[in-house]
Amino acid sequence: MKTMIGSAFCLFLLIGVSVCLFAEDVHLPEPRFDGEVSVESALASRRSIRDYQDVPLSLEELGQILWAAQGITSVWGGRTAPSAGALYPLEIFVVVGNVDGVDPGIYRYEPSGHRLEFHREGDWRFEVAIAAHGQVWMADAPAMIVIVADFDRTAGKYGDRTERYVHIEVGHVCQNIYLQAGAHGLGTVIVGAFVDEAVKINLAITEDPLAIMPVGWPAKSD
Ligand SMILES: Cc1cc2nc3c(=O)[nH]c(=O)nc-3n(C[C@H](O)[C@H](O)[C@H](O)COP(=O)(O)O)c2cc1C
Repeated sequence: MKTMIGSAFCLFLLIGVSVCLFAEDVHLPEPRFDGEVSVESALASRRSIRDYQDVPLSLEELGQILWAAQGITSVWGGRTAPSAGALYPLEIFVVVGNVDGVDPGIYRYEPSGHRLEFHREGDWRFEVAIAAHGQVWMADAPAMIVIVADFDRTAGKYGDRTERYVHIEVGHVCQNIYLQAGAHGLGTVIVGAFVDEAVKINLAITEDPLAIMPVGWPAKSD
């Protein structure tokens, strides 16, 4: 009897811990594959945007951008952006400040399952902007995409080509984000000027940050 009560208690504890761990994960809506803007048009109008309206992003818009960045597009796990040896060394974190239905915080995009994993509580946009040498306009964007790399995933196979390959991959992801954002009327910019350690501390990550892309509605020009 004692053992039964003990087992039931352990099960209860396990369920409780799992609920706590996953309570704040966010399932993203299915991405769209049938946008109305052509690739040519998105390329022709692509521009870096640094001035954003104080308007939230919807979960659909954020999910669509994350799918464009690293979404899974094949049964074997192939993604929207190419990767040397299909080793996928990049991870996407999102600094959420003003996204409908999502608590401010830092989340990791999980491509398999197309969801956001809760990582850290709080609105960290201003701190990240300060870490980017005080480019404070970044903090006006409702969300920031931070692309980070685990170089070890590529190094085992590609040795001294690793750094080159991972940097090429980041470029692919950034351009995907630019084009997807533009196709939805959103604005973004790749920010490469930041203090790596400061970004790592704010995001509470061990991987190396390579690019930050604020995303939001461009301020209306008169
Ligand atoms: C590797 C790289 C790093 C960049 N870093 C920054 C940055 O830290 N801050 C910024 O405002 N723009 C940054 N940019 C954006 C460039 O300033 C921008 O692409 C350039 O002015 C051309 O404008 P366009 O993107 O509208 O064509 C960066 C671009 C690249 C490719």
